[in-house]
Amino acid sequence: MEHRAPYRLAVPALAALLALTTACTGGPVQGRPGASGLRDPFFPKAGNGGYDVDHYELDLDYDPADGQLNGTAVITARARQGLSSFNLDLSGLEVEGVTVQGADARYNRTGNELTVRPAVDLKQGEVFRTEVDYAGKPKTLTDVDGSKEGWISTPGGGAVGVGEPVGSMAWFPGNHHPSDKAAYDITLTVPHGYEAVSNGELRSRTDTGDGRTAFAWHNPEPMASYLATAVVGTYQVTTGRTPSGIPLYEAVAPAEAAASAGKLARLPEMLEWGGRRFGPYPFGTAGAIVLPAKSLTYALETQTKPVFPGAPGEEELVLHELAHQWFGNSVSPKSWKDMWLNEGFATYAEWLWAEDHGGPTAQRHFQAFLDGDTAVDEAADSDWAAFPPASPPGPAHISAAPVYYRGAMVLHRIRQEVGDEKFFDLVRGWTAGHRHGNADTADFTAYAQERTGHDLKGVWDVWLYGKGRPR
Ligand code: TRP
Ligand code: ZN
Repeated sequence: MEHRAPYRLAVPALAALLALTTACTGGPVQGRPGASGLRDPFFPKAGNGGYDVDHYELDLDYDPADGQLNGTAVITARARQGLSSFNLDLSGLEVEGVTVQGADARYNRTGNELTVRPAVDLKQGEVFRTEVDYAGKPKTLTDVDGSKEGWISTPGGGAVGVGEPVGSMAWFPGNHHPSDKAAYDITLTVPHGYEAVSNGELRSRTDTGDGRTAFAWHNPEPMASYLATAVVGTYQVTTGRTPSGIPLYEAVAPAEAAASAGKLARLPEMLEWGGRRFGPYPFGTAGAIVLPAKSLTYALETQTKPVFPGAPGEEELVLHELAHQWFGNSVSPKSWKDMWLNEGFATYAEWLWAEDHGGPTAQRHFQAFLDGDTAVDEAADSDWAAFPPASPPGPAHISAAPVYYRGAMVLHRIRQEVGDEKFFDLVRGWTAGHRHGNADTADFTAYAQERTGHDLKGVWDVWLYGKGRPR
């Protein structure tokens, strides 16, 4: 019987060949699988190829008593190629069903990849709607640098979802890479007595009649998925408006309220200042979320409402997260290698804020790092020169000192070369040119030279890409 095997194989092979031929001659459309990752230099499996998401509609029911999440994600995307299947990133949780264009789709899971095979192949350019029903107890992920992200229980009963760089896949399926930004509508349904906070504007707060409240949050501007957040817990909510009319929504853990008040009170002034220094504030709403103390080991610039792990200790931290709304959130990195464009700018924003408000000048900050002078900046003796900010040695280093401080020093070196007028023109041109988009280091260096008319090769070679400690 063995000799017959080749014939048995030949039949399906022939069928596949015929199907391909039909596709070429205008028969049924034949798609191919979308890539399972976007080949990010540090997180190659993050994100997926073959489509671009326009909109996420997330309906999340969360019960803080047992940590159970019941979710529906409706993802509207455009196919960039004919697709026989495509992937979403999802970590943990149980998938209960997937439909594409209203029809049941087959799916399977390997690692953090959810592969969806629609009943009918998708055509290149087609806008399609995928619904994923899922449930379970979302998990906390530990990053390669040891920090926690994903879904994190907060002291006192509640939770926060955060996702830099890849934690959002722990609480919703998606194209989890910053290069695919989308609008979001996130509705959080929680038991009475809990607040639920997310990005953008609170459209409605509805009693569902079964002892729960649904909070519908609307975030119309493009958002990278790592900037999405969901916060459930006991919070004091304050709303208001900045002098120029931007709505503010602040949710503060009650025990942190007294210590937060003075720092958060400066948000309107910071927004106006940022608008002058960096260009118009990119979003329709602003605010902050102050978690119970020690909920996280870091603050995060979640879009429109940064999260703070307890009352911010210094106003510079509030300013840092606000500055990310321009640098990181509106102008987002093309890959995780470009993090210095987020953190260098947010750190330099702190130096500028200090300079404009009676603190040390940016020049003094710069010099303090060269001298290791911790009296000016307590991070001045950090290992800021360990690697060039434009090429961290690996994914464990995307939030390391050189990305922040040497990144800020790169910007100061440019300012030294071109002078204040051209420097601030460059900053505003950068935020305007890439507003709600993505950019990488090469985009920045090319633009900086073009806009200022200066040859900045010396700065790039020594400060941005050079090994060793610049002097
Ligand atoms: N991006 C955050 C900020 O600068 C900080 C941050 C997020 C972080 N995740 C981290 C720092 C992990 C260290 C490790 O505001
Ligand atoms: Zn930052």
